[in-house]
Amino acid sequence: MKQFVCKPFIHMFPDCGAFLSAFHVCEDDIVLSNACIFNPAFGHLDCRAQTLFLEDYGSGEPSDTMVDALLAAAAARAFRRVIAIGGGSVMDVAKLLAIAPAGSTTDSLFAAKNLRQEKELVILPTTCGTGSEVTNIAIVNRTRLGTKMGIVDDSLYARHAVLVPELLEKLPYSVFASSSLDALVHAVESFLSPAASPFTQMFAKEAIHLILSGYSKILPDKGRLKEHLGDFLLASTYAGLSFGTAGCATVHALSYPLGAVFHIPHGESNYAVFSGVLRHYEKRGAKGFSTLPGILAQELSCAPREALDALDGMLQAVYPRKRLSAYGMTAAQAKEFAETVLRTQQRLLANSPEKITAADAYAIYADLL
Ligand SMILES: [Fe+2]
Repeated sequence: MKQFVCKPFIHMFPDCGAFLSAFHVCEDDIVLSNACIFNPAFGHLDCRAQTLFLEDYGSGEPSDTMVDALLAAAAARAFRRVIAIGGGSVMDVAKLLAIAPAGSTTDSLFAAKNLRQEKELVILPTTCGTGSEVTNIAIVNRTRLGTKMGIVDDSLYARHAVLVPELLEKLPYSVFASSSLDALVHAVESFLSPAASPFTQMFAKEAIHLILSGYSKILPDKGRLKEHLGDFLLASTYAGLSFGTAGCATVHALSYPLGAVFHIPHGESNYAVFSGVLRHYEKRGAKGFSTLPGILAQELSCAPREALDALDGMLQAVYPRKRLSAYGMTAAQAKEFAETVLRTQQRLLANSPEKITAADAYAIYADLL
């Protein structure tokens, strides 16, 4: 069985003030965040930490130039902890700041052999999707090399993951929907992974339960979402604990070129191919798939044979899914993307419960066009 790692201490606080006092946040800390997230949540509180806002060092997803500028800015400050308050980009960059010895650059961190956490890392996620607060990976667009690359190392685990549902209250609905769908995909893909273990499946099942029961509670009245944010945040962390060991698979692999070519947000591009991949597994009788419909059926109050249709119906109500052609994808691109995925995404495809060929990938895309 693959070793199950649950590295950070995980805390849950009712509000931001409770976090500040429990963690004695002070001038010796650097908060890495976005101004639009940090100011409304902490501006009225006595937060004495120094701040670095990602948008002052570049825009979009983390790149080597952005990380280098942030490393230089941090090097000019004295601090003992890095506190990340944000989504996936903030968390990825904070992980790199925490492991960077003086004088580091993105290139030197990628080349380093013996990484260690130089500054204690504390992460507060502000979306309910990535699970990055409990994983040991950071991804950077290495523009000088023309590719996205990840560092995977145990030094990237936060010392503390801190869940504060209040931080999600200002999330636009579309971001809530796409990030929670990403967490659902993490849970389902890691549940079905050949690298799953009873530990990862326990977290995956609970994440599936929290997300689907959460959707059923908010669908009659989306104005009540605030009451259930804590459950979605927990689910995202549970899913992170599951995929951190068991991995993600075909959905993430097939969504990769959609994000790269059509600039679709990560959660939405996963959602665009999610049902197609599940139906492919079902049709093929993929190993280990047979238990999933029963789990979904329990949450969706239907028979297992109706589970995928019922899931589709619920997810469409949460966030209408677009056909791939609506993003501009053509049949020729479906073929081209299928070949690219087979060539470049074997790390993810290896976690699929069913071997995926280029013809399979094309058939899944084609059905969703
Ligand atoms: Fe994801």
